[in-house]
Amino acid sequence: MPTNARARAPVRPEVWVNCAASADGRIAYAGGRRALLSSPEDLRRVQGLRAESDAILVGVGTVLKDDPSLRVHWDLLGRPEDGPRTRVVVDSTGRTPPAARVLDGSAPTIVAVSERSARAFPAHVRTIVAGRETVDLAALFVRLRGEGLRRVLVEGGAEILGRVLRAGLFDRFTIYYAPSIIGGATAPPVARGPDAGPRDRGTPLRLAALDRLGEGYVATYLPSGPDASVIRDGDSPPAEVPP
Ligand SMILES: NC(=O)c1ccc[n+]([C@@H]2O[C@H](COP(=O)([O-])OP(=O)(O)OC[C@H]3O[C@@H](n4cnc5c(N)ncnc54)[C@H](OP(=O)(O)O)[C@@H]3O)[C@@H](O)[C@H]2O)c1
Repeated sequence: MPTNARARAPVRPEVWVNCAASADGRIAYAGGRRALLSSPEDLRRVQGLRAESDAILVGVGTVLKDDPSLRVHWDLLGRPEDGPRTRVVVDSTGRTPPAARVLDGSAPTIVAVSERSARAFPAHVRTIVAGRETVDLAALFVRLRGEGLRRVLVEGGAEILGRVLRAGLFDRFTIYYAPSIIGGATAPPVARGPDAGPRDRGTPLRLAALDRLGEGYVATYLPSGPDASVIRDGDSPPAEVPP
């Protein structure tokens, strides 16, 4: 990107994408039923990623299926508590259930909605409006950076991963591949979304590392090609993947 274009581009946080998949690239069981694909070693690795992030982001589909707490389990890391991380839910119309764990007030929480949402959330939840019909993720990332969040960990699910990865809105993408096959017709893949046009050749990635982790392995990818629509804050190299 030319220097003057870089100077004009809005700044987003550093975005790390992480998920766990079966060897055939599914991130849950049939119909989206939660699959515990991470091994104990991978659970620790993910907690390390959360601890290194300022915010942890998921789509409302993941909240509806998994009801995650999105908190850092410091006990798994063997480290003293270092405060909660901000939780971010991408939820165009406000479908997050009132009893969802992400709304329990135990950590700063942001729900990103579109202009279509008329939902009122509890006072401790911050709402960001970004986008008309669905949440505009590029705009949301810029807003999150404006909130002081410098590193965002995107954990899923399939639609959010598909959108973030295909749009090149990330700096590092790690997948833990579990030694299992899920198969079937409705188990969600790593990246889901609308079909691309006939000339589409996919989003290129650069393989940066391949590490065995217990019985599975972790693939680390970096973006490749000029497809990032906004620049990240600073030019620091991607951080090391915690062991
Ligand atoms: N293995 C793993 O690492 C892992 C991690 C997390 C989740 N999962 C699995 O992933 C599955 C959930 O994935 P999912 O695809 O159903 O849901 P999702 O990706 O978590 O959320 C998708 C929803 O986000 C909302 N959204 C708003 N703006 C969007 C945008 N710009 N782009 C994309 N989505 C946008 C849409 O709902 P609205 O239109 O209503 O806003 C959309 O339906 C579950 O089965 C869960 O178990 C696996």
